[in-house]
Amino acid sequence: MGPNPLVVDVDTGVDDAVALAFALAKGANLLGVTTVAGNVPVDIATRNTLDVLAWLGREDIPVHCGASRPLVASYADATDVHGGNGLGGMELPASTTSRATLAGPAFIIQCAERFAGELDLVAVGPLTNLAIALNVRPQIASQIRRVVVMGGAYSVPGNKTPSAEFNVYVDPDAAQQVFNADWNDITLLGLDVTHRTVLARELWARIPGDADGAAGLVRGATERTFTERGKSGFYLHDPLAVAVALEPDLIQGTQASISVEVTGQARGKTSASENGSGPLVAREVDSERFVRELCQVLELPTMDARAGFENPE
Ligand code: BDR
Ligand code: CA
Repeated sequence: MGPNPLVVDVDTGVDDAVALAFALAKGANLLGVTTVAGNVPVDIATRNTLDVLAWLGREDIPVHCGASRPLVASYADATDVHGGNGLGGMELPASTTSRATLAGPAFIIQCAERFAGELDLVAVGPLTNLAIALNVRPQIASQIRRVVVMGGAYSVPGNKTPSAEFNVYVDPDAAQQVFNADWNDITLLGLDVTHRTVLARELWARIPGDADGAAGLVRGATERTFTERGKSGFYLHDPLAVAVALEPDLIQGTQASISVEVTGQARGKTSASENGSGPLVAREVDSERFVRELCQVLELPTMDARAGFENPE
């Protein structure tokens, strides 16, 4: 039996781009990619996703443009982190393929129905598309086999505000709805674990300047993190979500019910109360195994995954 059909929802974004490269290198059965306003406005996220897939030789994978703004809250981007073009300033050749005609949430619904009981969904941007799909067809919660979300900060500080992680901050209403829906199986990867998965500067520096394919993408898109932004490491938030969808035993967690602050100073704050039901909140991650595997499949140089890591953000 081959890998389960997979849809990835992105706001491409540097680490979203690396997540797509990782999914393809791992041989994921990627049915399509949906895009959402997050790191960059949705039109740019869609263009970036098309260009990344073309760069990786996979123009055959459809890209479905989704929500252009959060459900209720005002939109905030992350171009300070991802650069104005969302790809850290890396200029990829333009894909000759256009976005698919079906909108992102509709594609999620279509795949959930067509592959009921088999479909996996990885969401690595604000959760607007998934919330819209859920509102239109609540039954997707039982049709989708497993959902993996990169979002939240459960027992650590946030990265957008002192208490909020970016994806949840951008659309807290969507996150609140998604985290409280009756899914078969949903895993939340917050900064609690993603901040422990880092591509070190020393490793990046050893990727040849003329590297092609996935390694060239990693080298070019993360360059600004190490040069202009002066960081010692690049957080692998979104690639970890893809990895956990393919290999759930990379993390360990506890089940908790989640509440999300939707307005005010604490907008986007996620609180988990452990009660043996609700989403699985990741608490531990085998970061060494994950980073080693990422380097292997993306053909990056290998070395101690945490070498040179101090405090990237
Ligand atoms: C998340 O926010 C975005 O900037 C990244 O792509 C990731 O999905 C981390 O907080
Ligand atoms: Ca993202």
